[in-house]
Amino acid sequence: MAIISTYCKKGGVGKTTFIGYLAHYLTEVKNKTVLIISVDDQNSIFTLFGKQNLVTASNDDYLEHLMVGLRTYEEVLHEVRDNLYLIKTLNTDALSTKLIIDRSSEKTLLEIIDTYNEAFDYVLLDFPPSSCRATEVLLDYSDRIMLIISLDSLGIDGFINTIQFFVDQDIPISKIQYILPNKFIANRRAPKKSLETLRAQAEEFSKTMELDALILPYFSEKSTVQNIQEQGKTPFDKDELFTYRYDFNEMLKVREELLGVFKAVDEYEEELANRAKKEKEKEKPGFQLKKKKK
Ligand SMILES: Nc1ncnc2c1ncn2[C@@H]1O[C@H](COP(=O)(O)OP(=O)(O)OP(=O)(O)O)[C@@H](O)[C@H]1O
Ligand SMILES: [Mg+2]
Repeated sequence: MAIISTYCKKGGVGKTTFIGYLAHYLTEVKNKTVLIISVDDQNSIFTLFGKQNLVTASNDDYLEHLMVGLRTYEEVLHEVRDNLYLIKTLNTDALSTKLIIDRSSEKTLLEIIDTYNEAFDYVLLDFPPSSCRATEVLLDYSDRIMLIISLDSLGIDGFINTIQFFVDQDIPISKIQYILPNKFIANRRAPKKSLETLRAQAEEFSKTMELDALILPYFSEKSTVQNIQEQGKTPFDKDELFTYRYDFNEMLKVREELLGVFKAVDEYEEELANRAKKEKEKEKPGFQLKKKKK
């Protein structure tokens, strides 16, 4: 139904964390079916869900094996939660080289994405911070992109570099529909200042370029995020909550903050759907031919 990506050219900002949390929110809270394709051959999205063993368990069920017909659509899917599936990538650089030297492989890859997009409510893409042909092709193919910006001075550089990368690669900036400020720290000056700079910079880009993105509520830096990730859990895991080895109230706060962020995403997704509907209505012909009665 929709292809959504998280991206930033800077590493370690929270791309994998947010694509994983968004996916689990969509399946747990909104009752959707979701597939995450790891374009990053680190495949750290598996670790986020506590399933890193699936990456090494078998060597012949990667995206690349589906692309060459050695595996079926079902065989490369790894179910990590109810209605939530992951696909792993073997080697992002090798995949990129293949996309460059063999033009038909790009068509194959996009057909695969289309097929999954028809089967799932959402196809989410987790990118590496590096730029390569695979990144360019799949960012360009995304319906919407969520930029993850970490709130430090280097994070703001990451924002500017990412916009520059989009310009250089001819990827429409209008695809960036969300900007998520991550790693906010309430009682420190620097992250607050970074948030202000981010807002001002986004405003500037919206005047000088086609940036028309919603700046989402910020997400705080919390050690609980790392603690639960180490245990392969997400804030949307319900059953074993009470057996966790960390402060449960802190975990609830993380969950509340995430719900605030994703509620804003939800409302915007609805607005986008309404806008698209209106656009479609406009395309209808100005008159309708009446059927003659027999
Ligand atoms: N809000 C947060 N609070 C605390 N830690 C966070 C937060 N967001 C992300 N992290 C931590 O930052 C680290 C990097 O996060 P993540 O792997 O999601 O980033 P990434 O952008 O996907 O990195 P890469 O560029 O390497 O793919 C992880 O250890 C994660 O637990
Ligand atoms: Mg990552």
